[in-house]
Amino acid sequence: MITRPYVVGNWKMNGTRSMLAEARAIDRAAERLIKVEVALAPPATLVHACRKEATLIGIGAQDCHPADGGAHTGDISAAMLKDAGAGFIIVGHSERRADHGESDALVKRKAEAALAAGMTVIVCVGETAAERDAGKAQAIVSKQLEGSLPASDSPAEQITVAYEPVWAIGTGNTATPADVGAMHGHIRAELERIYGEGGAQVRILYGGSVKPDNAAELLAVENVGGALVGGASLTAESFLGIIVAAA
Ligand code: G3P
Repeated sequence: MITRPYVVGNWKMNGTRSMLAEARAIDRAAERLIKVEVALAPPATLVHACRKEATLIGIGAQDCHPADGGAHTGDISAAMLKDAGAGFIIVGHSERRADHGESDALVKRKAEAALAAGMTVIVCVGETAAERDAGKAQAIVSKQLEGSLPASDSPAEQITVAYEPVWAIGTGNTATPADVGAMHGHIRAELERIYGEGGAQVRILYGGSVKPDNAAELLAVENVGGALVGGASLTAESFLGIIVAAA
């Protein structure tokens, strides 16, 4: 099955209402870029406003609580984010795993909560530099996939995996196309083991210092179905540069 490349901007903890102009500019341009599926994950505080400003691109959230509701001060459920206008949720980003000690089991519960709320989910995995240097990159990613992905009877077409090597995030040290190809091939095999035929439908995004000048090369790699972009998604100019490269 051939699908359009999926390019998702993760604004992380950046953005106040002044950033809505960027979302609007990306949305306007996306109308002309029908060869690419474009989405933005702003901070939760901007999900609703972005959804109103940008009517063509996908809008999602960067995290959710696994429970439907209740006594969880400061947390936000998947259903609340959907109500605010989110169509997808990123879970298991390495910054959440590191900053909040999120385990694979918790990430799995969050992913399943997103699906249960009727949203799609992007599950992030990726090894650290030390793990790669020790030759454990594929084993670490396998363990994260096994522990973090929604149950094997989940609708695979609602699931996206993002491979984000921790050492490539925000560092300018992009993984080489050969490394990306090897890891994405490994992830594809794991997805087919877990979801059977459905595993072939799961999109696998690459994330980690994707920029307008390296996007085309990375997106041309086999089993790379798009990109999860951090820093370069913060301005319409650089994000659109990546989208044009993906088209
Ligand atoms: O989720 C996106 C990400 O972690 C990559 O960030 O800034 O390296 O593109 P960046």
